[in-house]
Amino acid sequence: MADGHFWNVRARNYDKLFWTKDAGYLHKILAVSEFSKKDLILDIGTGTGAMARSIRPHVRHVVGMDFSDSMLKQGKWEGISMVKWDITDSLFHNWLFDKIVGRMVFHHILDNLDRAFLRCFDLLKSEGKLIIAEGIPPSEDQDVIDWYTGMFKHKEARRTFTKSLLVHYFVKNGFRDVKVYKYKMKRFNINNWLVNSGLDKAKQKLILNMHFGASRKVKAAYNMKVEDGVCLVDTDNLIIVGKKE
Ligand SMILES: C[S@@+](CC[C@H](N)C(=O)[O-])C[C@H]1O[C@@H](n2cnc3c(N)ncnc32)[C@H](O)[C@@H]1O
Repeated sequence: MADGHFWNVRARNYDKLFWTKDAGYLHKILAVSEFSKKDLILDIGTGTGAMARSIRPHVRHVVGMDFSDSMLKQGKWEGISMVKWDITDSLFHNWLFDKIVGRMVFHHILDNLDRAFLRCFDLLKSEGKLIIAEGIPPSEDQDVIDWYTGMFKHKEARRTFTKSLLVHYFVKNGFRDVKVYKYKMKRFNINNWLVNSGLDKAKQKLILNMHFGASRKVKAAYNMKVEDGVCLVDTDNLIIVGKKE
């Protein structure tokens, strides 16, 4: 089962990242998910449990799943069940959950992405929903997508998702009635993100300088501002909801 150095290092400061607690993002996910007090929820890639804790008051029960010991150890799990497991492997029996949520997880699944979608599909009850939240490039312009992909390459091995690619994975793996919602996170603090990223100082500086030196097109797409040396951007996030019929 995977875990690795990457998440051990990231776990230490994960909860200092401003975006994980962005109230607007959490509220938007809750609003489109239409949770009910009867719902049994699986929160995949639950990490330190920020999403699971937001969902808990609105449902019957939440199970958080993550393959990283270090991330799970940083979390608080009162009233939430938690299991160390890889989403691409089988654990529970099928047709069990009313909804499955995965916030900022799927871009980390480099191999077996279809298997992860299929596992979610199998685990859902009939009429159950998969709700995925992911960051995407701030424009569909190919130059901006290329800059975004290049910038993230310095941070981690990950996928660049677009709206059409995410919808494609939902439909390909059997989900119907796929709906897409957008959430713009205003004034995302790049400095806070880098300082708490687990990256060494040289990488942090390189990525920050990439932002400062980005083309006008990239800066405009991000509505980038620099205030007292702090780089602030508006990021685009999608929440995609698909139904198992
Ligand atoms: C960016 S964090 C997001 C945590 C949480 N969902 C949140 O929104 O704060 C991604 C998490 O996904 C977990 N993860 C990545 N791939 C996974 C997999 N295949 N199975 C289980 N967990 C996975 C990582 O360990 C990490 O905790």
